[in-house]
Amino acid sequence: MFHNLTIMPRKLWSQIKTRGFQKSVHELRDALVRHTFYIFQLDNSCFVEPGPRSKPPSVEILEGDSALQRLRALRPADRSLPVDFYRDHLNDLYRNCFVAVYDGQLAGALWVYDQTQPGHFIRMRPGDAEIRNVYCLAEFRGKGIAKILISVACTGCRKDGVEHIFAVIHSKNEASKRAFIAVGFKRVAVMKRRAFFGRKFTPEYAQPNPTAIGDPTPSPSSSLKGPKER
Ligand SMILES: CC(C)(COP(=O)(O)OP(=O)(O)OC[C@H]1O[C@@H](n2cnc3c(N)ncnc32)[C@H](O)[C@@H]1OP(=O)(O)O)[C@@H](O)C(=O)NCCC(=O)NCCS
Repeated sequence: MFHNLTIMPRKLWSQIKTRGFQKSVHELRDALVRHTFYIFQLDNSCFVEPGPRSKPPSVEILEGDSALQRLRALRPADRSLPVDFYRDHLNDLYRNCFVAVYDGQLAGALWVYDQTQPGHFIRMRPGDAEIRNVYCLAEFRGKGIAKILISVACTGCRKDGVEHIFAVIHSKNEASKRAFIAVGFKRVAVMKRRAFFGRKFTPEYAQPNPTAIGDPTPSPSSSLKGPKER
């Protein structure tokens, strides 16, 4: 909570510089309204590894430094794309960046975070990661780009030893839900709260003593009760 309060003004200022004043105020207003969000977690037993046929031939997926370099070369300098393409301008300590290029054009991106950059929704620990800011530009949607970006990001995280991979999705975002489900994510909690403020979700494995709360065999519905901490 205190961490959020100290980074909020910095983030807000970066946001205004990147998005412009009007858009930032609009987004802030929206963030103050309660919405329903789903916490999704990768079920490792259902993970669909990206295979040679999962990617359309004209799509190139880049990660890490090469992704960032390509993103910087392809995105407009006037910051006219959605903010998801400019996370590196927002004082974010992201763990990794993944970029999709379609026929030489910038098509999509996503960013992976770990516990060193706490998000608004999940209380992460070492070994956890969250995929955020998945974005596919409108003209490239429906081609499987989000799915391939997410599955390549998950493969990268798993290779790096990440054990738990999460995503937070607005309940009404059908395309995003379907993209994550197709890769092997499952819903583990429902949260009704404001985007920037509210108690965070603590994964079951991170809770001090699950049996102490009287449920030795946690069912999906127990985790659907939502956040435990902060
Ligand atoms: C969500 C988003 C990233 C999906 O990108 P995409 O590249 O078009 O997605 P894909 O082509 O990989 O398709 C993913 C799934 O969503 C489905 N889908 C695509 N567009 C859809 C739509 N408008 N409504 C419902 N489902 C849709 C696809 O059929 C596919 O499901 P399937 O595998 O069960 O067939 C894209 O719509 C987007 O950038 N939206 C704005 C930003 C956003 O909401 N980001 C998510 C933040 S969590």
